Amino acid sequence: MPACIVYSSRTGNTRAVAKYLAGRFSLPMFSVENAPDDGYDEMILGFWTWRGGPDPAMRSFMETLRGKKVFFFGTMAAFPDSPHAARCVERTRNLLASGNCRVLGHFLCQGRLDPDTLARSAHPRTPERMARLRQAASHPNFEDFRAAEQCLRLALASEGTLATVPTVPMTKHVA
Ligand SMILES: Cc1cc2nc3c(=O)[nH]c(=O)nc-3n(C[C@H](O)[C@H](O)[C@H](O)COP(=O)(O)O)c2cc1C
Repeated sequence: MPACIVYSSRTGNTRAVAKYLAGRFSLPMFSVENAPDDGYDEMILGFWTWRGGPDPAMRSFMETLRGKKVFFFGTMAAFPDSPHAARCVERTRNLLASGNCRVLGHFLCQGRLDPDTLARSAHPRTPERMARLRQAASHPNFEDFRAAEQCLRLALASEGTLATVPTVPMTKHVA
């Protein structure tokens, strides 16, 4: 098996990206609770962002990995080109580096924050934050799916793995 996808998702955003990638590359996909013990050299790991890094379940899973090749993707309420996102990438890289895993690439996009979390949130409701959350509400969208695919394709191609990972024709997409 060349690669598999393992994702963690509370409200479905990260799962939607994972499902799209699994369909496009015909890769097996597991939720982090059902992650395979071993048998994959390359892992595509998806998380929802929590406190500026991978969520607790994915963080714990990443800590168990040793010497894997990893492509990671994450969904977040923040903008993917923000300093917050850059710190998230840095934290994720550090987590993986401590298990001698090699990062092949990564992808981040916004993901809607669920209304209950927003209602309970102690963060101030500044106009900037509310505008950002309004934007997040329409993500992940199809453009995000395609961008995630593109990033993963480049990462796998540079690794020479792409030849063994067929691409499914564009006849359908995940709702
Ligand atoms: C408890 C909690 C903490 C969060 N922390 C962050 C954060 O630090 N940075 C961020 O950009 N988004 C944060 N978010 C937003 C989620 O990462 C985002 O909505 C994500 O797309 C949810 O993915 P899911 O639907 O796969 O669970 C947080 C959400 C929750 C519920």
